Amino acid sequence: MDVDELINLLNKSLSDEWLAYYQYWIGSKIVKGPMKDAVIAELTLHAAEELSHAELISARIIQLKGTPVLSPDEWLKISNCGYDIPKDPYVEEILDQNIKGEQCAIRIYNEMLDITRTSDPVTYNMILQILSQEVEHEEDLTALKEDLELMLERGRS
Ligand SMILES: [Fe+2]
Ligand SMILES: [Fe+2]
Repeated sequence: MDVDELINLLNKSLSDEWLAYYQYWIGSKIVKGPMKDAVIAELTLHAAEELSHAELISARIIQLKGTPVLSPDEWLKISNCGYDIPKDPYVEEILDQNIKGEQCAIRIYNEMLDITRTSDPVTYNMILQILSQEVEHEEDLTALKEDLELMLERGRS
């Protein structure tokens, strides 16, 4: 595959990672409701991991002699997964927004694996490493949501 096209795709994912980082980071600051402390701990950890994905992707773009996206203005314009403004700080809403973000990331990185599988083993390995973490993120958030629902159900009965 064309290297410029690959750099474009990597810059789109780099933008996704910065937006995901901020989505988690701001979520951890504003979230309210039951199980808040457990949710804050998870969101904070995920934020740090999204930032580490941005590190990996920007390093790979530079190895490929490309330029990592230079302005935050570009993030929303070129991102695959966008950004959900957390207008409602209730735990379940915050979890749902982040679950949706992870599902998008998982879909995009699976596509990236298909694209790089035979043409670029280095990028392929990096994406595989990132994807494994996105899958864990989705599982962690879903587990928290299940615990929250169980707790609320028990509270009602
Ligand atoms: Fe990520
Ligand atoms: Fe993630």
